[in-house]
Amino acid sequence: MKYEKEINRRKTFAIISHPDAGKTTLTEKFLLFGGAIQTAGAVKSNKIKKHATSDFMEIERQRGISVATSVMTFEYRDTLINLLDTPGHKDFAEDTYRTLTAVDSVVLVVDSVNGVEDQTRRLMEVCRMRDTPVIVFINKMDRDGKNRFDLLEEIEKELRLQLHPLTWPINSGKDFKGVYNLHNKSLQLFTANTKASDDEDSVSIADLSNAILDEKVGDKDAAQLREDVELIDGVYGNLATEDYLAGKVAPVFFGSAINNFGVKEMLDTFIDIAPVPRDRETTARVVSAGEDKFSGFIFKIHANLDPKHRDRIAFLRVCSGKFERNKYFHHVRLDKDIRFSNPYSFLARSKDVIDDAYPGDVIGLFDTGNFKIGDTLTEGEDFYFTGIPSFSPEIFKELVNKDPMKTKQLEKGINQLTDEGVAQLFTQFGGNKKIIGCVGELQFEVIQYRLLHEYGAACEFRTMPFYKACWLTSENQQKLDDFLRFKQVNSAEDKDGHPVYLAQSEWFLNTEIQNNPDIKFHFTSEIH
Ligand code: G4P
Repeated sequence: MKYEKEINRRKTFAIISHPDAGKTTLTEKFLLFGGAIQTAGAVKSNKIKKHATSDFMEIERQRGISVATSVMTFEYRDTLINLLDTPGHKDFAEDTYRTLTAVDSVVLVVDSVNGVEDQTRRLMEVCRMRDTPVIVFINKMDRDGKNRFDLLEEIEKELRLQLHPLTWPINSGKDFKGVYNLHNKSLQLFTANTKASDDEDSVSIADLSNAILDEKVGDKDAAQLREDVELIDGVYGNLATEDYLAGKVAPVFFGSAINNFGVKEMLDTFIDIAPVPRDRETTARVVSAGEDKFSGFIFKIHANLDPKHRDRIAFLRVCSGKFERNKYFHHVRLDKDIRFSNPYSFLARSKDVIDDAYPGDVIGLFDTGNFKIGDTLTEGEDFYFTGIPSFSPEIFKELVNKDPMKTKQLEKGINQLTDEGVAQLFTQFGGNKKIIGCVGELQFEVIQYRLLHEYGAACEFRTMPFYKACWLTSENQQKLDDFLRFKQVNSAEDKDGHPVYLAQSEWFLNTEIQNNPDIKFHFTSEIH
């Protein structure tokens, strides 16, 4: 393998969680360990506290200036770690789902008090689609949380994920004394500490019957720990790394991100076991990360919100070979060769122009409208990476032009915004109505604001009575055409011309599925 050394030192992952579980805090601790930042509080939360467009726009504007926060690259123990940021707000969940297509593994943060929450479930569904390896961090052990055995059971059941604890907590809340590392058999004693440091109070206790345990945590807790560990050892045994890598078993760590406790154990294990850039499926064949020839795909597009400079940054995940500055690469969809004179990397949180990048890396490409999500660059071969899905939106509204003089601007604006993946655009058959599908109300506000401010096009939205979009395929084209004709009001095509059924309710949807056995109803659409 030509680039073996580079590939084997890279790990690309994302931290995912329900808002407020501690993703930002954990990110910050990771960066402190990696030396990428020096002080706590340096990582801005991307949380939108209020339901307010202005709040969102302000965050986006700041992020536009410092796009660096979208990808954080740092080194730890000779490993180059690419940590991809994901939006916290549920209305932008789709952006998170797409980012998950660009990582090789994830760390899932679960709040020990709240347990499994809504977003956790959805995010795990996406991980499961790709068998993404998951490490679970159970956070906020300094608070009175759920019983730890109950919590593990809840996570296993709700997320359909087999767990394997690698550390075990001694109490929680004000009685939290620390964690026992089941793997290297040492005891970490808890002290509140908000700085990253290596000097955790750690005692090696290979044999739990050793009296030093009683000395450190007291007789009662020592006895409980012995009992727990015996039980856990009996149930779980040793972690099989290949099960983790196959996405079947998730190692679990307990800790408190804000106190920087239990974070280092997890990061060290992450370095030891998390996958290096993996092979990827395409429409033509499996592309191995170790191939000599370059390939990569766009998973995110970030607009510069300044109307005077309507350039965008397209985020490309390198999948194989070597990306080089100023070298011509093949843009598969446009069937044209393009080169990039200013590709960015995100090392140490500043935007730097880079000369080359390797599998696992994420680079920012200056874009004047050439890209949409899912686009592939290669050294000439024609294929698309698969598994970059669109999910059904949950809210549908008709886009109504308020200024006929600005029709062109509106068209252009909505096309560009949907290319960025801000929303999905459907065109109703027959009526030619433009229907925008989003996950949350906030997205509509953002679209309206951006169309006006960036494109000068005023629009409004009219609510449509749909609840889900299903992509349709059939081996019998005639049946599909007939169906679309009969169900004209509920039929549309997506931006790529694929037929879509817009269902008013679950009942209607189920009825249509039953009545049309020759037609397949898909709940996600692969972009390619
Ligand atoms: P998020 O990105 O997943 O949304 O969560 P974030 O890290 O912003 O954390 C959410 C809240 O939980 C923050 O408090 C944070 O300080 C707190 N937190 C994180 N880790 C721990 C922990 O281990 N123990 C406890 N007790 N709290 C933790 P906040 O009040 O919402 O924000 P802030 O004002 O403290 O920044």
